[in-house]
Amino acid sequence: MGRLPNHEALSLTPHDMGGGYVAPRPASPSDPLRTAVLISGGGSGLAALLRHQSTNPRSHRTALVISESTEAAGLDHGRAAGIKTLGIPIPEGPSRRREHEKLIQRELEAEGIELVVLSGYMRILTPEFVSIWKGRLVNIHPSLLPDFPGAHAHRDALEAGVTVSGCTVHLVDEGVDSGYILEQRSVPVLRDDTEATLQERIKRVEHDLYPLALDRLSNGGYSF
Ligand code: GRF
Repeated sequence: MGRLPNHEALSLTPHDMGGGYVAPRPASPSDPLRTAVLISGGGSGLAALLRHQSTNPRSHRTALVISESTEAAGLDHGRAAGIKTLGIPIPEGPSRRREHEKLIQRELEAEGIELVVLSGYMRILTPEFVSIWKGRLVNIHPSLLPDFPGAHAHRDALEAGVTVSGCTVHLVDEGVDSGYILEQRSVPVLRDDTEATLQERIKRVEHDLYPLALDRLSNGGYSF
């Protein structure tokens, strides 16, 4: 499903590969990747991931949850699981975007984070931040990319009149929802769907797909 040439899975090591992606080290349940989850809202995807990680030993473990708002409802999922959970508001002043990312980067480094998982994080990251994490920075988007990138995927899908939409797990690059595709799953669009009903149906699939994609990524199972 990826758009870049394939390499042997065994060649996945933490070095630079085509496209500028640097893969995470291959981890195992006894030595899991330390993962940070970035959220902006309700965090149902975070909750699903934490359930997945708590039901069986996985090769990834959430060590840090961050939102750009101290008010994000999803922060409660991190706190309830006993995970270090931070609301890091966007600072005032010039270069606020970069300054905000520097605050986040400081926390990621302090916690020894190895993989950054965007789960409903609504901010676009700068190329500077992406370049630090490229290959170890993943996102889930609620459409079948490259169709309907951006913040209004459900509205755009309904306006286009498609009968099938879905979700995509992808590595993050410097563009908007344009990185290397790891997994996709389709979801039917029903005739009487609203943005809310379509979003809920897609989220149910996301909650299965994202944890499985992270299992595979942290086990060194993708060739990119
Ligand atoms: C998900 O549909 C995700 O694909 C999109 O934002 C939504 C987040 O939902 N990027 P939640 O905050 O995890 O409930």
